[in-house]
Amino acid sequence: MFLDKDDEGILAGEQGQTRQQMLELLVALGKVFGAERLVPIRSAQVSGASYKTIGEYGLQWLNSLDAKAVVPAVLNPIGMPRERWQEMGVNEDFAQKQRAVVAAYERLGISLECTCTPYYLRETHFGDHLAWSESSAVSYANSVIGARTNREGGPGALAAALVGKTPCYGLHLEQNRKPQVIVRVQADTRNWSIADYGALGYYAGKLVGNRIPFFSGINPDKDQLKGLGAAMAATGAVALYHVEGVTPEAVKTPFDLTGLDTVVVESAEIRKLFKEIPVEAVAVGCPHCSPAELEEIARLLKGKLVTMPFYVFAAQGVIDKNQRTVDSIEKSGARVFADTCMVVSPVMEQYESIMVNSGKALAYVPDMCAAVARIGTIEECIRVGTE
Ligand code: F3S
Repeated sequence: MFLDKDDEGILAGEQGQTRQQMLELLVALGKVFGAERLVPIRSAQVSGASYKTIGEYGLQWLNSLDAKAVVPAVLNPIGMPRERWQEMGVNEDFAQKQRAVVAAYERLGISLECTCTPYYLRETHFGDHLAWSESSAVSYANSVIGARTNREGGPGALAAALVGKTPCYGLHLEQNRKPQVIVRVQADTRNWSIADYGALGYYAGKLVGNRIPFFSGINPDKDQLKGLGAAMAATGAVALYHVEGVTPEAVKTPFDLTGLDTVVVESAEIRKLFKEIPVEAVAVGCPHCSPAELEEIARLLKGKLVTMPFYVFAAQGVIDKNQRTVDSIEKSGARVFADTCMVVSPVMEQYESIMVNSGKALAYVPDMCAAVARIGTIEECIRVGTE
């Protein structure tokens, strides 16, 4: 694997033991995956931020490190809102441990934005090389923006943040970004919502596994693409997909689709996922809400009061820039929380059934929160949450 003079210096310990170890980790990863070189990255997004997922051992490891990030880097959602954790019902013991994890990352120079939608906070461009780790963020970066990132593990993304480079293999290379299976959607998708696209992703992820799908027959907007990709990354292992005439690489590149398998998805298969079961709480914002989604929720909740716990999740930076919209949502009794989500917060474990508008949450809530999950459109979520 080619290493430049700076890399050789880091490996010789010239920039401290932590950076040396981090580069050793990246080189080892690169060798496993056949990378010929490292590539400089524009940003990193580091998972393993919730105390619920990394635990005491992970915290100790973080505390043993001593270096600062050299590229902009954010965290994945943590187990609680940094400011409003008491209001969300997080207990003091968990909060103390979560604060220790956050402090450890802050010491390493990672920005304390805790979100799976870092693309709303910092512009990310077509062709940028990144080291992001949360699966929906990876899918959005690759597919909707046309940036290039593998799905990094937490340590790999942290190492990339501290070194500023990542091994150049997998989705960093043009030749590995071509479609591998065609998904033909046979449905009238003109009035489809984010939830419909989430349900499509939930269903399609199981069919395509880890292949790169090329969709035809759909025309999603960016929020709908976000929901589609998040769900496919949850039920499959899809880190990149293309949509005919919509996603940037599908528009720029005339892909040769000859000889690829085709799977057909019909609307009846998607509708079957929308089951009307009673729920104890509603949680939306998986992935974290865009400004447009917050506006839509505020509009639909106007003049209504929620009758069950109603959670909305978004990045702190998005909340700050849309405070009036957030205030309007909260007038209904719903709560808009930053930094966390319905899957990584232990608070959600108190419910036996949760309604969501996300295919990814539909896949994860049963395992991560031990609750039954129901998917519905945002209109249905608000009707159920206010009736
Ligand atoms: Fe984001 Fe949590 Fe969903 S990390 S994609 S809101 S499960």
